[in-house]
Amino acid sequence: MHLALLLSLSVATAAHADETTTEVWTAKCKSCHGPDGKAQTQMGKKEAIVDMSQPAWQQAQTDADIREAIAEGSPRNKKMKAYKDKLTPAQIDALVAYIRTFKKG
Ligand code: HEC
Repeated sequence: MHLALLLSLSVATAAHADETTTEVWTAKCKSCHGPDGKAQTQMGKKEAIVDMSQPAWQQAQTDADIREAIAEGSPRNKKMKAYKDKLTPAQIDALVAYIRTFKKG
């Protein structure tokens, strides 16, 4: 009884729009891009996903480029889906800022 209540509460929390950006990244992005954006994952290796922690990548991308990739998906690779219907504009902006923190790691 108590366990069932706790479980339903945590499911409700996970679906809530107030998820932290780390939680969004972990739930929706980490499986391919890795915890640190380096894409050292099965999918990352298979699809040769870029290492977002590289300074050269960080410099080549504007915030608008990153936002567009998240919102619209990649025109080059269907594995990178459009997230504009799944995330709010504020969540997408927060993910852009989150991706910018990878350059320190
Ligand atoms: C199913 C695997 C998968 C998931 C999940 C995924 N991505 Fe991607 N992502 C990719 C692939 C593959 C590419 C490379 C696309 C390409 O080469 O154009 C990519 C590319 C990107 C790029 C652009 C990189 C570049 O150099 O143009 C950004 C930014 C990005 N992803 C952010 C995210 C964010 C943020 C999330 C979570 C909301 C996410 N991705 C979830 C597979 C994934």
